[in-house]
Amino acid sequence: MNNDLINKYDLRVPRYTSYPTAPHFGDGVNGEVYQKWLSELDPATPLSLYFHIPFCDEMCWFCGCYTKIVKRYDPVKEYLDALLAEVDLVADALPARMTAKHLHWGGGSPTMLKGEDWMAIMTKLRERFDVHEEAEIAVELDPRTATEEYVAELEAAGVNRASIGVQSYEPKVQEAINRIQPYETTKQVIAWLRAHSITHINMDLMYGLPFQTIDEIETMVDMTVDLQPNRIALFGYAHVPWMQSHQKMIKEEDLPDAAQRWEQFTLAVERLKKLGYVQIGFDHFAHPEDSMANAIETGELHRNFQGYTTDTAPAMLGFGASAIGYLPQGYVQNERPLKAYRQAIYSGALPAAKGIRLSGQDELRRDIIEDLMCNLTVDLDARCAQHGTDVDALKEDVEKLMPLAEDDICTLDGDTITVTETGRPFVRLVASAFDEYLTSGQGRHSKAV
Ligand SMILES: C[S@@+](CC[C@H](N)C(=O)[O-])C[C@H]1O[C@@H](n2cnc3c(N)ncnc32)[C@H](O)[C@@H]1O
Ligand code: SF4
Repeated sequence: MNNDLINKYDLRVPRYTSYPTAPHFGDGVNGEVYQKWLSELDPATPLSLYFHIPFCDEMCWFCGCYTKIVKRYDPVKEYLDALLAEVDLVADALPARMTAKHLHWGGGSPTMLKGEDWMAIMTKLRERFDVHEEAEIAVELDPRTATEEYVAELEAAGVNRASIGVQSYEPKVQEAINRIQPYETTKQVIAWLRAHSITHINMDLMYGLPFQTIDEIETMVDMTVDLQPNRIALFGYAHVPWMQSHQKMIKEEDLPDAAQRWEQFTLAVERLKKLGYVQIGFDHFAHPEDSMANAIETGELHRNFQGYTTDTAPAMLGFGASAIGYLPQGYVQNERPLKAYRQAIYSGALPAAKGIRLSGQDELRRDIIEDLMCNLTVDLDARCAQHGTDVDALKEDVEKLMPLAEDDICTLDGDTITVTETGRPFVRLVASAFDEYLTSGQGRHSKAV
């Protein structure tokens, strides 16, 4: 049955880490607009800060992130100087000194930064923001480059959550993706993290990689659960060689087909649930005692550019090249080329290059899509009432869901739409019925499963 569905609905839809999604950002939002938006923030708004570090030691062939390979530290250092200057520019634009509750370092590999530079940047942040004493300070960590000394430096910088890239433990797969990372390395880094009070551990696993098999997926899940991470992300390999040319190093014929991907995904999900993890949305799993499992119960689960999150801050400020942030007024993305990013900063301007100002319709649809992606259900009437719109205006969108309802992907009960357990892997499709921008961006996204 599900295999039929996957054939029928092998559509490419966004992952809805924002709405409208990034391909619809335009140059109507620039440094000046961002500066104004920042100045309009209510000083009591809790902030989330995201820092992008676009550097790695070596390229993994599957990588879809924005990163550059560097063999020397100079470009990283040069970038960090600009990042520190950006913190000052942004803090100067705010109406007052504000409180940061969540700090997230993504990449690339933030663990490219030297310990002394972690200290420099944390000192700068504490100088310009009130970093809440219980703030979550999370880092994406490549275990291949970590040493115990380095982990101790992260601890000293205040880091309390680490997201560890694993992908696969199988040597043949690792070779095909140019990422040799023995299980023992991952295990050792997790032990160091725990010994250094970084006890919130996330692990990233992948399916759909070259040479991955169903047996390997089962072993991968078991070996991961043995390490007892608090959260697990299970990403389907998005093969987009027309956008990421290094992915051409992965031969199409070595990739599992749609049916095999589906089998790998469902097996991993079943096994993770059997071993006690709670499924979050479609691709995250949380230990039952983790705050994310709790957020499902309290309706406080959210979705942002890092995927599913317990971060409830209404504003996220993005720092670094290509970083995306959001404010109540809309989304903002920084310059992507490193040179343009640095030039803007050194000319005294905020390096925002594009974004989108949210219309009333965007806000309504963003809430509907987030409800579906996080809670798998939405009460359209209640959402429309909140936004002062008549639910009848969504009639055409709801009609698009009829075929999905016939296939038991979702149910329509009055004005409430609920994604079924069968439909959970297709939640992006259900959400896409409310995406007004979809037609112009179609064909650019990865497979829904
Ligand atoms: C920035 S990386 C994680 C940190 C660090 N750079 C590392 O690789 O260990 C974020 C995660 O995105 C996922 N990812 C990267 N490229 C992907 C792709 N093409 N398709 C699906 N997931 C991908 C991987 O699971 C990876 O761990
Ligand atoms: S997966 Fe991580 S380490 Fe590998 S190239 Fe991408 S960002 Fe760098």
